[in-house]
Amino acid sequence: MSYTARIGPSILSSDLAQLGQECRRMMECGADYLHLDVMDGHFVPNITFGHPMVECLRTAVGPDPFFDMHMMVSRPEQWVKPMAAAGASQYTFHLEATTNPGNLIKEIRESGMKVGLAIKPATTVEELAPWAAQVDMALVMTVEPGFGGQKFMEDMMPKVSWLRSQFPSLDIEVDGGVGPDSIHRCAEAGANMIVSGSAVVSSDDPRSVIALLKNVVMEAIQKRSLDR
Ligand code: DX5
Ligand code: ZN
Repeated sequence: MSYTARIGPSILSSDLAQLGQECRRMMECGADYLHLDVMDGHFVPNITFGHPMVECLRTAVGPDPFFDMHMMVSRPEQWVKPMAAAGASQYTFHLEATTNPGNLIKEIRESGMKVGLAIKPATTVEELAPWAAQVDMALVMTVEPGFGGQKFMEDMMPKVSWLRSQFPSLDIEVDGGVGPDSIHRCAEAGANMIVSGSAVVSSDDPRSVIALLKNVVMEAIQKRSLDR
């Protein structure tokens, strides 16, 4: 088992006028990485930001923090090079947005980034499976992508469990409605990369929320290794 528990706050629900400061605050509060949500108003019914903002954030936080770019865009091929140049660490694209995942995976690697592959709630995990061995991370969406603050979809957990059983060392991320109330289900199913937006960012004590989420996932990983 090579994966570890990592918590990546989504800064979508933070004060967008202070994004650099908010990113630094999350890292100081124990975040392992930052999950940055890019939306184009076409793949999802909302708009956020693009690579110019990522470049500014990279300058604001320095070279170390890992940027997981969640690309909720219709033409993911278009932004690979600009995102790499802006300082993105991982390019997580949606399977539904491309007709040639194999080529996109290759382009992302050639640009020097890690590869994440995301599926929306209506997409089956069997559609992701053929690509799982080629990517660094699989993202199982636990809300319909587009907005922060939605309700966690517990019925996505069988996808996570199945992926964990088939790919014991794959990084598996969950995103959407994840917080202290839903983390146990995610951890038991086998997720190890945890995106949490409103539950962390809107909390009076983000450090404690991040620590709680991480402990629950670490305990589940330990239990799984003892059961083996
Ligand atoms: C939703 C985004 C999520 C979202 C998470 O489309 O991909 O990353 O910001 O926020 P919460 O945790 O509030 O659902
Ligand atoms: Zn996201």
